[in-house]
Amino acid sequence: MAEWALLPLRLFLGATFAFAGLQKLANPAFFSAKSPTSIQAQMTGAARFSPIHSLLHAMIPHAVIIGWVIAYGELAIGIGTLLGLKTRIAAIAGAFLSFNLFLAVSFHSSPYFTGADIVFLFAWMPLIIAGGGSRLSADALITRRAAAQSGLVKLPLVAVPFENVQAFCGNFDKGHCRALSNRPCAADQCPVLDSRAPQVSSVAIKTFDRRSVVIGSTAVAVVAGAAAVTGLLTTATGHLEASATSGQKAATPTTLPSSGSNSSAGGAKGTLLGPASAVPVGSAATFTIPSSGDPGIVFQLNKGTFVAYDAVCPHAGCRVGYTPGAPLMLCPCHGSQFEVATGQVVSGPAPHGLTPLTVVGSANGNLYLQ
Ligand code: FES
Repeated sequence: MAEWALLPLRLFLGATFAFAGLQKLANPAFFSAKSPTSIQAQMTGAARFSPIHSLLHAMIPHAVIIGWVIAYGELAIGIGTLLGLKTRIAAIAGAFLSFNLFLAVSFHSSPYFTGADIVFLFAWMPLIIAGGGSRLSADALITRRAAAQSGLVKLPLVAVPFENVQAFCGNFDKGHCRALSNRPCAADQCPVLDSRAPQVSSVAIKTFDRRSVVIGSTAVAVVAGAAAVTGLLTTATGHLEASATSGQKAATPTTLPSSGSNSSAGGAKGTLLGPASAVPVGSAATFTIPSSGDPGIVFQLNKGTFVAYDAVCPHAGCRVGYTPGAPLMLCPCHGSQFEVATGQVVSGPAPHGLTPLTVVGSANGNLYLQ
C-alpha cells in the first residue's frame, strides 16, 4: 500500500494546477489591464501589502508576460504532476510558484494557515523528497522501459527486517559475524546480502541512462506539445465566449470625475467627487481617493444617505467590485464578500471589512469626500 501513498496528493496537486492554468488561459480579462481581475490589477493590489512590494512594482510593467508564464507554468506543472512525468522537477517548480504567491499575496493571512499558498508549498514537499511514486507514474514506466531495453531485469524487492536476516544467517553469533572475522554484525557490511546483490555491468548502466534520457525527453516533448495546443485552444475558446457575451455585459458603476481639490459649497466641505445624480438610490459609483490614489466606491442606500469605502480588499489588495442590484460587494481575486450597507466582511479570506469613508451630498447637488 505504501507505493500508493503519494498518488492522491499527486492527483490533487496536478489537477488543481492544471485547472488553475486553464482557467487563466480561458479568461481574456486576466490579461487585460482595464479589468479589475487582470494580472496587472492583482499585482498592483498585492504590491500594497506584500513583503516583496519593490519587486512587484518593478514587475508590473511586464504583467502580461508574467501572466502568460504563470498560466502556462501552472498548466505544465499540473500535467507533469498528473502524469507523474518528471515529477520532482514539476514539484520543485510548483513549490517555487507557491512560495512566490505566498510572498506576493497571502503573506499576511491570519492565522497563517488560512492562506492556501503556504499549504500548497508544503504539500509539494513529499513529491520533491520521494518523487512521484511507482504507481500510475510515467517516470516509473520510462524507467521500466529503459531497463528492459538495456537488458536490466528489475528484481522484485521485499523489505525484510535485518533481525530476520541475522536469525537465518549461519554466520551471526551474539552480535558478531563469523564471515567478517567476528567483527560486529552490520547491515551495510553484510557479505551475505552483498553476494546476492544483482551484478550489473557498467555498459548496461550506461545504456540504461541513455535510454532513460531518450524516452524521457520524447515523452516530455510530446506532452509539452499537447499542453501547448490545449492552452491555445482554451485561450481561443475563452476569447470566442467573451466576444459572444460582450453585448450582454452587466452595467458597471459610474465613475465620478473627482476634482482632487478641496472645496466648500452648498453647506458641504471636502473633495468634490461629482454630481449626486450619478449615484441613483440603490446604485454605486466609483472614484479615486485623492489622498491615497486608492479606488473608492460610494452607494446611495436611501434618498440622501450615502456610504462609501476604500475599495481595496484588506486580504491582498485587489479591487473590490460591485454589480448593480447585488446585496454584496465581491473581491474578484479570492472571493471575499462585503456588505454594502456596512462594508463588513461577510465571507473571507479578507480578515476584516473595508475602510469606511465619509461622503456627503450638498445643497448644490454635488457629492463631497470628507
Ligand atoms: S484580495 Fe484576496 S479576497 Fe480580496
